[in-house]
Amino acid sequence: QLTTAVDEICKEFEVTPQKLDELTAHFIEQMQMGLSNTDESAENKGLPMIPSFVTGSPNGTEKGMLFAADLGGTNFRVCSVTLSGDHTYKMEQMKSKIPDELLEDENVSSEDLFSYLARRTAAFIKKNHPEVTETKDIVKLGFTFSYPVLQTSLNAGTLIRWTKGFNIPDTVGKDVVQLYQEQLAKQGLGNLKVVALTNDTVGTYLSHCYTSQNTDSMTTGEISEPIIGCIFGTGTNGCYMEELDKVTKLPKEFRDKLAAQGKTHMVINTEWGSFDNELKVLPTTKYDVYIDQKLSANPGFHLFEKRVSGMFLGELLRNILIDLHSRGLIFNQYRTNEQLPHRLQTPFELDSEVLSHIEIDDSTGLRETELSLLQTLRLPTSPTERKEIQKIVRAISRRSAYLAAVPIAAITIKTGVLSKRYHGEVEVGCDGSVVEYYPGFRSMLRHALALSPLGSEGERKVHLRLAKDGSGVGAALCALVA
Ligand code: BG6
Ligand code: GLC
Repeated sequence: QLTTAVDEICKEFEVTPQKLDELTAHFIEQMQMGLSNTDESAENKGLPMIPSFVTGSPNGTEKGMLFAADLGGTNFRVCSVTLSGDHTYKMEQMKSKIPDELLEDENVSSEDLFSYLARRTAAFIKKNHPEVTETKDIVKLGFTFSYPVLQTSLNAGTLIRWTKGFNIPDTVGKDVVQLYQEQLAKQGLGNLKVVALTNDTVGTYLSHCYTSQNTDSMTTGEISEPIIGCIFGTGTNGCYMEELDKVTKLPKEFRDKLAAQGKTHMVINTEWGSFDNELKVLPTTKYDVYIDQKLSANPGFHLFEKRVSGMFLGELLRNILIDLHSRGLIFNQYRTNEQLPHRLQTPFELDSEVLSHIEIDDSTGLRETELSLLQTLRLPTSPTERKEIQKIVRAISRRSAYLAAVPIAAITIKTGVLSKRYHGEVEVGCDGSVVEYYPGFRSMLRHALALSPLGSEGERKVHLRLAKDGSGVGAALCALVA
């Protein structure tokens, strides 16, 4: 009975080649719509497609020492980055896990958050660069802020909404650079100027361009060009280089002005986490609906992210297990759901890291899985239960990786990059815990690319590259241009 129920659930998580076709076509349509839409309240506005005001890509010869700060989904990092001008860099950093209170407490204010960021920044400066406090000279800092921001210039932008677990209403609509700058001043760091604001995907893209030797085709013989920067971590998102002419949401006079300066392209932050919030084509199970509506902080938004990113993989498994239990099919030693181990009852308690252990467990009787579930959830399991749990885990991760291929296929097709250059090949710079650590994620993604409209021909020309430290180096590069 359990096996039948699990097989049915796994079936619902399948993404067929036909589905990949539909999703890719819809993604392209939504990109096009988003590039021209200026009305936030429009019924069908397409993807956010936010102009980043970054109009060029680095080639690895950039030089200088800059500061960077990076608020991601899990950590806040402050770094100093020295770009050596030969595709390499040196970095000193201080990484702090974002305190749970800032993520969970309902009464947290913007000031609490940005004052925390400024205090961590001050701690780093005091320890590693006290000279900054001893001078009145302006010192430049690039700020990576990995949330949807309506960017109005290279160093200004207002928060559209929180994603990935933050929920501090009074930040929405405010300029996050200003908030951070004010708090830096309170820490006596008024001369540390936030000169650039960037999304983590944009940072990843820029840093990948800087480190990629392949931008230098005459010396390396390689001719693949970086075109996408993306994150598959707590959240998921991507950016790419778009022709300025196509970004018609930007005023014509502004585009003409840039064109007169010889600029032809701009990096666009797609905010693809919000792909198909209307649920026209995204595969949807009752678990997806429940998590979105009842458990997430932003119901109705970022529905693609809720099927793909690390923050939701464990939550999907947890909800499926609870459902199977209430149907009397699993963990029958607990009579009611209320008797289940507390941790299994707690939303977002089951980390995607646990799934990554279960995914590859090939030990006898799935002993690794048993230990992992015991340690993290205090949940005892039988060998049969574990076998079924592993099937569910693999269905969840496979759907995630298959869906992850959609934006990459869509952007490659929409921009026509593969046919633009001689022997066109492209690079996708990626970062984030899922793409870096989840076993098999990248190969499943590649497999889906081959099944997508790109086909195996196209798939072979799209190179996924891990771009570590993306945000720190990327923000520094942005600050350098500013
Ligand atoms: C980090 C980047 O490496 O990856 C962050 O510096 C980014 O900017 C993060 O947000 C994404 O990964 P995760 O897994 O922390 O969401
Ligand atoms: C979320 C944010 C987005 C960010 C992504 C990856 O989707 O909205 O801005 O890039 O997470 O961190």
